[in-house]
Amino acid sequence: MNATPETAHAPPPRPYVLGTGDDELGRLGLQHRLWSDAAHEAWKLARIGPGQHVLDVGCGPGYASFDLAQLVTSTGSVLGVDESPAFISWLTSQADARGLPQLSGLVADAHHLASAVARPAAFDAAYIRWVLCFVKNPARVIHDTASLLRPGGRLVIHDYFNYTSMTMAPRRASHDAAVAATARSWRERGGDPDVMARVPAMLAEAGLNLTHLAIHQRHARGNPSGPPEAMFAWPDVWWRTYAPKLVAMGYLAQADCDQLLRDLDAVRTSATDFIVVPPVYQIIAEKPAR
Ligand SMILES: C[S@@+](CC[C@H](N)C(=O)[O-])C[C@H]1O[C@@H](n2cnc3c(N)ncnc32)[C@H](O)[C@@H]1O
Repeated sequence: MNATPETAHAPPPRPYVLGTGDDELGRLGLQHRLWSDAAHEAWKLARIGPGQHVLDVGCGPGYASFDLAQLVTSTGSVLGVDESPAFISWLTSQADARGLPQLSGLVADAHHLASAVARPAAFDAAYIRWVLCFVKNPARVIHDTASLLRPGGRLVIHDYFNYTSMTMAPRRASHDAAVAATARSWRERGGDPDVMARVPAMLAEAGLNLTHLAIHQRHARGNPSGPPEAMFAWPDVWWRTYAPKLVAMGYLAQADCDQLLRDLDAVRTSATDFIVVPPVYQIIAEKPAR
C-alpha cells in the first residue's frame, strides 16, 4: 500500500459538528495522547499485531492510525477512512513524513464504507473510535465494517454512553448547561451521545459476536500549586474549543460560556474540586470463523 489519498463518494453536505479546522486537529491529537493507553489495551485484547490488515473507520487526522501502522509493521497495512478531505490529506502527508508506507487514507462516508473500500472480507481488524456517536446511522456503519472483516476478524470500538454524566464536582450550573447543550447539538445533527447502549444489538444484527465490554471512567483533579492532572487538559481543551462553537450555533448563552471558562479556571487551581469526564465504553466483537 502507498500513502496516496484516494477519494470515493463525495462527503455528505452535513458537516462534522466539531469541525475539521486546526483547533480540532490539535484537540484530536491531545485526546489521542490521553486515551492511547485504552486504545493499546483494546488492540492487544483484539490481537492486532504484525502483518495484519486493519481498517480505521472515521480515523480523523490519523492519530490512532499512526500507532496501528507501527503495530502491524511494514508487513501489514492500515487504511484510514474519513469523510474529511482535510484530515485525510494530513494523514497521508504524515504517513510519508513518519515513514509509514503501510498506512494509506481514503476520503469516504462511513455509511457507504463497503462500496467505497470494495475489499470484502479483506481485513483482520477494524477500529472505530468516537465516530458512531456522530453518524446518522451507526448500524449501517457497523454493518458495512463487518462486511469488510474476514471470518475471525475483530471489530474494536471506543465510544460514549451516558455522556451527560460528565460533571464538575461540586456541580456548577454553567458546566451542566454546556453538557446538555453539547448533547443537544449532537442529537440535532443525527448523532447520539448514548450510542454505546445500542451498539451491542447492532453488532448482533451485523452477525458479530460481542466478546468484550468494559468501561473507562476517569476524572481530572485540579492543583493549586502547579499543573493539574494530565487528564484535566481533555475537558479544558474541549470546552475552550467547543463552548464558543455552541454559542455560535445558538445552543449556549454567551454568559454561560464565559462563566464556564471561569469555572474551569477555578477547578484547575483548586485543591478539592475535580471534573468527572464522560465514560468511554470499550467493545470488541468478532466475526464468526466459517
Ligand atoms: C471525534 S473524531 C474521531 C477521530 C478518530 N477516530 C480519533 O479517535 O482520533 C470523529 C471523526 O469522525 C469523522 N466522521 C464523522 N462522520 C463521518 C462519516 N459519516 N463518515 C466518515 N467519517 C465521519 C469526522 O470527520 C471525524 O474525523
